[in-house]
Amino acid sequence: MQSLTYLFLILCCTQSACHGCEWIRHQFGTLSGLYLTQLDEMGGNITQQEVPVVFPEFLYERTNDTQYVDQVRFLNETIHEITELFDENMDAVTWDKKKLGDFLILLHRQFTNLKSCVLPARRPDKTLKHYFKELKKVLRKMNYSAQAWELIRKETKYHLQKLDLLVANMH
Ligand SMILES: *[C@@H]1O[C@H](CO)[C@@H](O)[C@H](O)[C@H]1NC(C)=O
Ligand SMILES: *[C@@H]1O[C@H](CO)[C@@H](O)[C@H](O)[C@H]1NC(C)=O
Ligand SMILES: *[C@@H]1O[C@H](CO)[C@@H](O)[C@H](O)[C@H]1NC(C)=O
Ligand SMILES: *[C@@H]1O[C@H](CO)[C@@H](O)[C@H](O)[C@H]1NC(C)=O
Repeated sequence: MQSLTYLFLILCCTQSACHGCEWIRHQFGTLSGLYLTQLDEMGGNITQQEVPVVFPEFLYERTNDTQYVDQVRFLNETIHEITELFDENMDAVTWDKKKLGDFLILLHRQFTNLKSCVLPARRPDKTLKHYFKELKKVLRKMNYSAQAWELIRKETKYHLQKLDLLVANMH
C-alpha cells in the first residue's frame, strides 16, 4: 500500500512536470492580467518611438512549438530577465510610483511561483540573454532617461502579452 502511494506520488510529480504545473494552468493568466494593467496605468500612452533592438519574435515561435518543459523554462528565463531590467537606474522615470511598485511585486510573484514549476536548470538561452543585454545597452546609451524607460516599458508590455498568449496555447 505504501509503495503504491509512493509510486502514485512519483507519477504525479512527473506528470505535473510534463503536463501542467497548477500555477501556470490556473494562476498565470490572472496575475498576467493584473501586472499588465499596472504597466498600462503607471504612465501615459505607450510610446510610438521604435525600440532600436529587434524583438526576438522567432524565440516565441520556436517556444510555441516546443515541449512543455522548454516552454516553462522560457517563461522562467524571460520573466527573470525582465525583472533584472527593472533593477537598472530608474531615477528619471515619472511613472506612478505605487503602480510601478505593484507591477514589480506582481511580476516578481509570477517569477517566484514559476520556480515551483520549472525543471532542473539548463543554461539560459544565449539569444535571449544577448537580446536583454542589448536592451540594457540602450538604457545606458540613453542615460537612463525617462524616454529610454518608455522604450523599455513598451518592449516589456509586448513581452508580457506574448508570454500570456504562449501560456494560453500551452493547454
Ligand atoms: C493616448 O491615446 C488615446 C487613444 O489612442 C488618445 O485619445 C489620447 O489623445 C492619447 N493621449 C496622449 C497624451 O497622447
Ligand atoms: C501556437 O501553437 C498553437 C497550437 O499548439 C497554435 O494554435 C497557435 O496558432 C500557435 N501560435 C503561434 C503564434 O504560432
Ligand atoms: C529560472 O531562472 C533563474 C534565473 O535565470 C535561474 O536562476 C533558475 O535556475 C531558473 N530555473 C530553472 C530551473 O531553469
Ligand atoms: C549622456 O550623458 C553624457 C554625460 O553626462 C553626455 O555626454 C551624453 O551626451 C548623454 N547622452 C545622451 C543621449 O543624452
